[in-house]
Amino acid sequence: MPENKPFPKGFKWGTATSSYQIEGAPTAGGKGPSVWDTFSHIEGKIKNGDTGDRACDHYHLWRDDIELLKNLGVNAYRFSISWPRIFPTGKENEPNQMGLDFYSRLVDALLENQITPFITLNHWDIPQGLEDSGGWPERDIVHEFVKYSYHVSRHLGDRVKHWITHNEPWCVSYIGYIGGHKPPGLKNNWVKSLAAAHHLLLSHGMAIPEIRNNSKQSDVGITLNLNTAIPASGSTYDEDACRFYDGQFNRLYLNPLYKNEYPDDVFEYLKTKGLISELDLNFIKQGDLNIISTKTDFLGVNYYSRAVIRNEDIDEKNNLPRNVDMGPETDFGWEIYPPGLYDLLMKLKNEYEVQNIYITENGCSYGDGPNSEGKINDKRRIEYYHSHLTELKRAIEDGVPCNGYFAWSLMDNFEWAQGFSQRFGLIWVDFKTLERIPKDSYYWYKEFLLTGGSNEN
Ligand code: NOJ
Repeated sequence: MPENKPFPKGFKWGTATSSYQIEGAPTAGGKGPSVWDTFSHIEGKIKNGDTGDRACDHYHLWRDDIELLKNLGVNAYRFSISWPRIFPTGKENEPNQMGLDFYSRLVDALLENQITPFITLNHWDIPQGLEDSGGWPERDIVHEFVKYSYHVSRHLGDRVKHWITHNEPWCVSYIGYIGGHKPPGLKNNWVKSLAAAHHLLLSHGMAIPEIRNNSKQSDVGITLNLNTAIPASGSTYDEDACRFYDGQFNRLYLNPLYKNEYPDDVFEYLKTKGLISELDLNFIKQGDLNIISTKTDFLGVNYYSRAVIRNEDIDEKNNLPRNVDMGPETDFGWEIYPPGLYDLLMKLKNEYEVQNIYITENGCSYGDGPNSEGKINDKRRIEYYHSHLTELKRAIEDGVPCNGYFAWSLMDNFEWAQGFSQRFGLIWVDFKTLERIPKDSYYWYKEFLLTGGSNEN
């Protein structure tokens, strides 16, 4: 592909957000509490005691936000539905009409502006009522998710044609049950973590036919956070640690979805460490893998950084040399490594034969705020986007079937355990006044889109 040849015809260019991170209005329109409403109010869980109670107040300011999307010139927008706006406790038989109407208006307004909606059904804020009944580690939640998917797609499926079942299941199963920084905040509980991962995947597979049936000619997929992982050195300890990391982060999701199998080495490793037993894996029932590997229409990929993996117990303790040169970091401390996007996409094409990919998130956190003239010069964000889009283009030239790219995020928002301290937006948000000011990166992206995605400046 010559240097300036645009991205494929019909390519979707968008930005992404999620309900809890931007909406606010935690009880409006009959909404019930989500696990994030609960978790963010527990002392010490969120930096500076921030909560999503108001966030960007998108629930009330959504018309302004659509105007900002329109002026940006995107042809797609990825947002998520707050499950407890539709089923306040999760267990009702009928959906809450006021919740459905909110999203219905949003969808209509997007379409009026020629912006294609991409809906994520679960971006982590599940009804607290379902968490109280055991949450993702219990099989019952699978049926609740299918019910929820059925009703949302029945109501919006005439207009919405792009559906993402779950966002980053690893964050729920690992951070929620091993790291403890996300709900329900458990630590080192591998049995629940694996069961949660399994039920997330199973519910994805079971929801696909329901969505397809309600939303004719639609594309249904799932979004995973994926990366390329390399050992910090050539030591076998680092290599083993890296294999396990890659197994639990990437293969635990990709393999059941694309190869109809779980990566046995992950289970074996946990058994040798005494963290699970064979019996613990009883939540995997016969036939589940066939459901999970139901062919999807696309894979959503969230890419931010690569992972350089070290064995903490031996190599790190003994201060053994690392032989990987690390790149610069964003304000979040995440390494900037654009070629990792290329490597990951090539791997998905070659090893998993994925036939349709959307980059559903890519972006960076920088704290740059308004200068004396009220302008936000976020040059580093522009460089981040530019370098990653260059790698994406290289991957497409080398045959990767990627059909869309969503910048994370449209605007600064509630960054989970980091509260409002990490800013990923193309638009600056003043969290006191709720004023929105487009950053230089917003204008850069706009220009990039105007020139057909071939702007090399
Ligand atoms: C992935 C998540 O989907 C999103 O909610 C989060 O804000 C970004 N990564 C940045 O951490």
